[in-house]
Amino acid sequence: MPVDKLTIPMPDDWHLHLRDGDMLAAVLPATARDFGRAIVMPNLKPPVTTAAAAGAYRERIRALLPAGSDFEPLMTCYLTDNTDPADLRAGAAAGIFTAAKLYPAGATTNADAGVTAVGKLQPVLECMQDIGLPLLIHGETTDPAVDVFDREAVFIDATLAPLRRDFPALKIVLEHITTREGVQFVEAAPGPTAATITPHHLMINRNAMFERGIRPHMYCLPVAKREVHRQALRAAAVSGNPRFFLGTDSAPHLRTAKEHDCGCAGMFNAPCALACYAQVFDEEGRLERLEGFASRFGAAFYGLPVHQRTVTLVKTGGEPPADDWPTPLGPVRVFAPADSLRWRRLAA
Ligand code: DOR
Ligand code: ZN
Repeated sequence: MPVDKLTIPMPDDWHLHLRDGDMLAAVLPATARDFGRAIVMPNLKPPVTTAAAAGAYRERIRALLPAGSDFEPLMTCYLTDNTDPADLRAGAAAGIFTAAKLYPAGATTNADAGVTAVGKLQPVLECMQDIGLPLLIHGETTDPAVDVFDREAVFIDATLAPLRRDFPALKIVLEHITTREGVQFVEAAPGPTAATITPHHLMINRNAMFERGIRPHMYCLPVAKREVHRQALRAAAVSGNPRFFLGTDSAPHLRTAKEHDCGCAGMFNAPCALACYAQVFDEEGRLERLEGFASRFGAAFYGLPVHQRTVTLVKTGGEPPADDWPTPLGPVRVFAPADSLRWRRLAA
């Protein structure tokens, strides 16, 4: 009997961009509706580099939550060459920091203040290993000589593998993996290693960026890769391996900033991310494994409880792709599968 209804513990989003100000106010309800917690990325302008800044950002998020919401933002520290291990330690002890984010300098949106060489993080990583604070990594080399489609694989060999070896007890999450090499690394790595996988990397390959013309709304970083890589990601997501869990990388940019001479990287998928994941697991014949991926494995990795409350998803006849998401600053295009969306969350 095909399953057309599924109830699972409230999922969490282990990789999310909420921005700030008017954009934050506009996009937060989409995530707070479907997810119990989210790891909030710190790449604001200016970036969230201290415990004080993260605490203040958390308050701004909490103040904008819909009435009655018990959504919990989990804050991250944006690592720089000058991160103070004492501040990181104090922020973690105070319950402000849940993790810290490593952006190689210049790798992506608002990553200019990122880390210029991982060697500069030695005392920071020793501290994080010591206190059990997870390191979240944007895993792409910034060497302009490296082909843009190879940047994840090169980063894994040149930077991540040595890092994994040098800090054997450090919790590491390779964020938004896009390649077979990423999957294989995470499967085989010693020590506490995991990866998040986005809905868009499960649903599109790189052709989507060039379908009958240039498609700026299909551009994100790491950029979508060949079909073999998408298939490897789908296999990993539905494998039941607890090292792979949900992280949407939902990253709103105004339409005008994407449809531009130099369009921004990022896709806003929060309104239908959960439905997209359900669709992928359904297509793979592994709906029963969505619960682990969406609601259990990430919580276990971060040492947090699974939610008591639940969400119910139902299969529909297919719904047209979502409209733009309105914000006071202008519309944001919502990522949705090319044909139709076949799952929907039942209203709570
Ligand atoms: O596509 C992306 N957008 N990748 C990132 O790493 C950052 C994100 C953003 O902040 O827009
Ligand atoms: Zn991201």
